[in-house]
Amino acid sequence: MSTTRTGTDRSQAARDHLWGHFTRQSAWENGVPTIVRGQGHHIFDDAGRQYIDGLSGLFVVQAGHGRTELAEAARVQAEKLAFFPLWSYAHPEAIDLAERLAAYAPGDLNHVFFTTGGGEAVETAWKLAKNYFKLTGKPNKYKVISRSIAYHGTTHGALSITGLPTLKAPFEPLVPGAHKVPNTNEYRAPDHLRDDPKAFGRWAADRIGEAIEFEGPDTVAAVFLEPVQNAGGCFPPPPGYFERVREICDQYDVLLVSDEVICAFGRIGSIFACDDFGYVPDMITCAKGMTSGYSPIGALIASDKLYEPFATGSASFAHGYTFGGHPVSAAVANANLDLFEREGITAHVKESAPAFRRTLEKLLDLPIVGDVRGEGFFYGIELVKDKATRETFDDDESERLLRGFLSGALFEAGLYCRADDRGDPVIQLAPPLTCGQEQFDEIEQILRGVLTEAWTHL
Ligand SMILES: Cc1ncc(COP(=O)(O)O)c(C=O)c1O
Repeated sequence: MSTTRTGTDRSQAARDHLWGHFTRQSAWENGVPTIVRGQGHHIFDDAGRQYIDGLSGLFVVQAGHGRTELAEAARVQAEKLAFFPLWSYAHPEAIDLAERLAAYAPGDLNHVFFTTGGGEAVETAWKLAKNYFKLTGKPNKYKVISRSIAYHGTTHGALSITGLPTLKAPFEPLVPGAHKVPNTNEYRAPDHLRDDPKAFGRWAADRIGEAIEFEGPDTVAAVFLEPVQNAGGCFPPPPGYFERVREICDQYDVLLVSDEVICAFGRIGSIFACDDFGYVPDMITCAKGMTSGYSPIGALIASDKLYEPFATGSASFAHGYTFGGHPVSAAVANANLDLFEREGITAHVKESAPAFRRTLEKLLDLPIVGDVRGEGFFYGIELVKDKATRETFDDDESERLLRGFLSGALFEAGLYCRADDRGDPVIQLAPPLTCGQEQFDEIEQILRGVLTEAWTHL
């Protein structure tokens, strides 16, 4: 039994005092899964058990656990300058990181506004879009369009952009003006488009144009899209999708925001995933993998056009966060990106992604595995009741399968990943970007055992 600093049983102290995020507190009644250490691709719990980290914590730990040089970068910076804000002042690590992110970003996305995480970056992007149009003579442009089932964060603005009704319902009314369009779930595409990805991509992109027309082009400020949508279980863009979206945004003077909170920093392959799919957005939001999780930070990266009204005279963007661009986090981000460059992390993802996909696709021989989809080191495995008809599970079955069995059984079997039913039931995988065939096989073997057994728990 581990004890807290005051000598109480730590599990009991967690039940009494620690409020989990998106957590059923009742699930802690029989024990609180407590992770104490990470090394390489593995994490260890308080009983010394080892698990492969199939989700990089929460799509975060790109470089793997236990990287001394990232810890050392934090220590050195905390000693030199532990804190200073970016409010009217600057510090070297934030300047260097901003210059570096601007160099990685495509087109003229040259201006970096730091936050402490992803939701704040999304919130910032919406506020900047509104502010920009007010300053450039289109004050009625304030609405945003995003996709069904997509997750963009939990602050009021970001939650309004989020397309998950059950997450939003407890907090309504939210920010007005956030409209939803269909996502790019090809597995569940309308019948006539299922076997024609290009036509499906065109159809899905055109729904954005239709929504802009319907809401009124003079009222729509921005479209928020992930390069590969996470919630729902990894929906990559069909061919031609982003090309058409860019065209539509240009036609209606609507800003395209690439929400890369998960997809940036090598998760798909490149530092920014819009490069992997060949489009140039007006803004990028990013966070998670920027430091590989060794310290929190997020950012909004905006184009020259968006920055221009703020560049001179008395104008300023009246927005900020005390800890945005924290010196320790900025130093760790710089060290993390040094590590990426030295170890060729993005090249490794691009080279190994086909092998990861092939290894996971072996699972398609199981009756419960309907679809394996994703890009880079980012996959969703959709579970179905009937492979031939693609019939999914009803709510009770899903509850029994995911919460009643799979989440616990996968963890017991040594794999930390995510069993998610925000859309249809899926298992999500996003291991550290340093993984190779040995880890792909380990993940596949554990999934195979547990998913074979899952069939008997329906
Ligand atoms: C696409 C996307 N946007 C925004 C967020 C919110 O990020 P954070 O939890 O850092 O606020 C997330 C979190 O997972 C995300 O996946």
